[in-house]
Amino acid sequence: AGDIFSTAIEATEVPLGHVKKVMHEGSEVAIYNVEGCFYATQDQCTHGLASLSDGFLIGEFIECPLHQGMFDVRTGEATAAPCDISLKTYKTSLKDGVIFLARSTGE
Ligand code: FES
Repeated sequence: AGDIFSTAIEATEVPLGHVKKVMHEGSEVAIYNVEGCFYATQDQCTHGLASLSDGFLIGEFIECPLHQGMFDVRTGEATAAPCDISLKTYKTSLKDGVIFLARSTGE
């Protein structure tokens, strides 16, 4: 089945090694640039009320600004305490310098 892609953002707005928050289908989503590959997860940490787009992207891991838990942005997997619940992830697609987000979450 084809994915429906909706929200779009210029790739230049998410520079290498950076993370940017966008509104996507009514939800806050963080978009990450890991060495030119774009990934997207829910913006809110699964541990508390923190915005991961305010955190630090270290390679493919995002460090939460509140308690320094970590997630693998490629899979959403929680990789460092105190986080133990995975993030929702969204498929991304890059076309002509524009990042598109899939309407539904990836698995
Ligand atoms: Fe993110 Fe606690 S709110 S680690």
